[in-house]
Amino acid sequence: MKEVVVLVGTGSIGQAIARRVGAGKHVVLGDLKLEAAQKASEIFEGAGFETSTIAVDISSRESILNLVEHAQKFGAIKNVICAAGVSPSQAPVDAILKVDMYGTAVLLEEFGKVIADGGSGIIISSQSGHRLGALTEEQNFQLATSPTEELLDLPFVKAITDTLKAYQYSKRCNVLRVMYEATIWGKRGATINSISPGIIITPLAADELKGSRGEGYRKMLKASPAGRAGTPDEVGDLAEFLMSSRGRFISGADFLIDGGTTASYWFGDLQYLRKTH
Ligand SMILES: NC(=O)c1ccc[n+]([C@@H]2O[C@H](COP(=O)([O-])OP(=O)(O)OC[C@H]3O[C@@H](n4cnc5c(N)ncnc54)[C@H](O)[C@@H]3O)[C@@H](O)[C@H]2O)c1
Repeated sequence: MKEVVVLVGTGSIGQAIARRVGAGKHVVLGDLKLEAAQKASEIFEGAGFETSTIAVDISSRESILNLVEHAQKFGAIKNVICAAGVSPSQAPVDAILKVDMYGTAVLLEEFGKVIADGGSGIIISSQSGHRLGALTEEQNFQLATSPTEELLDLPFVKAITDTLKAYQYSKRCNVLRVMYEATIWGKRGATINSISPGIIITPLAADELKGSRGEGYRKMLKASPAGRAGTPDEVGDLAEFLMSSRGRFISGADFLIDGGTTASYWFGDLQYLRKTH
């Protein structure tokens, strides 16, 4: 039996993270599109990693439980990486909430029951969650702690009608849910954190850059403190630290990695974005 790394969402960000923590372990590659997982597997196996692939839909608890069962066949689950998601240009409101909000919450819940002592997890959230104004303490509490099956029935969640808001609320929920779950994962000797990336060049970001909001995104990148988009490897480096022995005192935390874009959105040259939304 080996230690197991579970990656759900085998896009570029997920792959960059799994490559940094997967050596000598069994890497489970799960994705909604089995072909995407298989493509990732070819790259990983070609680079010396041991892998298996599985089709997973995180918007289904049954599918997540199936993933847990599959992973446990190879050994103790040491690392869980969730980089699965859909963006505002890719899906309607319902699908975004079901995958990004509910699905991520269920994944945290189910892996929190089986994560190994000394283990760690990373959830990929987004800078988008940092663009919502402050929610009330009650709303924060509800997003963090409501039973997963009741999350999408919260009145202020049900009232969401546009895809950008659905994405922003989902990503805010990811961060709050990670805080709540850290209290549960901690009892098993495990840590769980989230990373909120800015625009990272991946196929998902390419869809956004080509989509109806593309021009705005390009202008935003140019005016941001870093003046560019990020790369999956930069997110991978941060995740590697958080999942390493040096990151054991870090749990329930969110890390914004966006080249200063959010700072500028609230207090700098990008404040115009706030006024136009
Ligand atoms: N790329 C960016 O600029 C950026 C910025 C901020 C946050 N993110 C977040 O990073 C994560 C990964 O995005 P990426 O840029 O690597 O995109 P990507 O499209 O390359 O990867 C996302 C993967 O998730 C899979 N997926 C979609 N729905 C799923 C479901 N229901 N169950 C299981 N898998 C599913 C897709 O098939 C795809 O392989 C997403 O959560 C996204 O919101 C991306």
